[in-house]
Amino acid sequence: MNEKRSSFSGSIGFVLAAAGSAVGLGNLWRFPYLAAQYGGGIFILVYIILALTFGFALMTTEIAIGRKTGLSCIGAYKALNKRFSFLGYIAWSVPIIILPYYSVIGGWVCKYIAVYLTGQGAAAADGGAFFGAFMSSTAAPLGWFLLFLALTAVVVIAGVEKGVEKVSKVMMPVLVVLIVGISVYVLTIPGTMEGLKYYLLPDFSKFSITTVCAAMSQLFYSMSLAMGIMVTYGSYTRKDVSLVNAVNQIEIFDTGVALLAGLMIIPALFAFQGEEGLTSAGVGLMFQTLPAVFGQMPGGSVVGLVFFVLVFFAALTSSISLMETIVSMLMDRTKLGRKMSCLVVFIVCIVLGVPSSLGFGVWGHILPLGMDFLTFFDFISNSVVMPIVALITCILVGWFVGTKAICDEVSRNGEHFGRKALYEVMVKYLAPVCLVVILVFSVLQGMGIIKV
Ligand code: PFF
Repeated sequence: MNEKRSSFSGSIGFVLAAAGSAVGLGNLWRFPYLAAQYGGGIFILVYIILALTFGFALMTTEIAIGRKTGLSCIGAYKALNKRFSFLGYIAWSVPIIILPYYSVIGGWVCKYIAVYLTGQGAAAADGGAFFGAFMSSTAAPLGWFLLFLALTAVVVIAGVEKGVEKVSKVMMPVLVVLIVGISVYVLTIPGTMEGLKYYLLPDFSKFSITTVCAAMSQLFYSMSLAMGIMVTYGSYTRKDVSLVNAVNQIEIFDTGVALLAGLMIIPALFAFQGEEGLTSAGVGLMFQTLPAVFGQMPGGSVVGLVFFVLVFFAALTSSISLMETIVSMLMDRTKLGRKMSCLVVFIVCIVLGVPSSLGFGVWGHILPLGMDFLTFFDFISNSVVMPIVALITCILVGWFVGTKAICDEVSRNGEHFGRKALYEVMVKYLAPVCLVVILVFSVLQGMGIIKV
């Protein structure tokens, strides 16, 4: 790690790069189905509160640690306190668990691009049977998964992140415009107003600790927290960039896209399938509801194609940053070069991804903790490992390094750190206690000891 660290050109570059990593399948695919499952409005409310407290505190911490130490995660935690270098390794395991199944879903997105390209959009608009048949087959999802993973690997080997960054700077705004357009269209479909109410108005009777657990794990995932990514990004950030503004902007952008994605999907789901559709919503939601919406739209097959191409880019930029994190750490820790590291990561991802791909078909009878493989890996990373990383980070900063070091880093340019008091209470007391509770509940829930 002797070479000079690259750095972002300035605040905008940093915010866009971080937002590019943050905005991905988490916003478009994961958020809507969780919001549908966990009571709509109440989930949104809990999510927003958590984003403003936990999300803000953790993101500030991670970016500040990165910028202060100038190191990526394993080195950074070690520099803060030698006894905490293990934390970097745990954080590093998160992208390794996520990338394989992320690529399986990336493969589904590629499949849908092909569906619209070959004029099968109408067939896919049947509200779920088409998708069900696809994902429970063997060869097709595997092939698409390998294609997506290979594309990711090719980009990481070529090291053309710069090009990808440029592409995503154009794609992201287009994606947002398209989502807004589709949402507006959805709201003109008869019957969607009830769904809109479900989505926006919190029903407190639907609140439970599992809502909080689900929202929290989604928050980490969506904002790329608790996996060392933001530490690395922070290390690339110039000293004169305002961290307060950067954190606010990343949070607003990421949460905004997630909320819009839900707006595009949930009211339509309600109109087509009623309440039942909402509670039974699962990982296939985006691929079931949206084609049905496109099927009703004038010019829907073109809109469908454009939509899935944009989702593909959002997913690819995120999967690239996941693979890049794993690869760069491997290169730092071993003597392997970039190509060999990519090859190793590629093979490991195939091994871990195949079960996720087959888990809806031929391996559907194997249910670790009662979940299909994809849900299982998602659960382990988001509901178990990430809360552990977040918890230890808070303990490290709150009780060993001291929050002062982080606050000083935030206001090193004489900048006013408005939510400093909230920050200190969060990191020292509130977050650790809540994280322990959440972790215990998540694990009990995962083991089937308590029911959702
Ligand atoms: N935050 C991304 C999403 O919401 O899809 C997932 C992710 C991408 C996490 C890249 C971590 C990462 F490095």
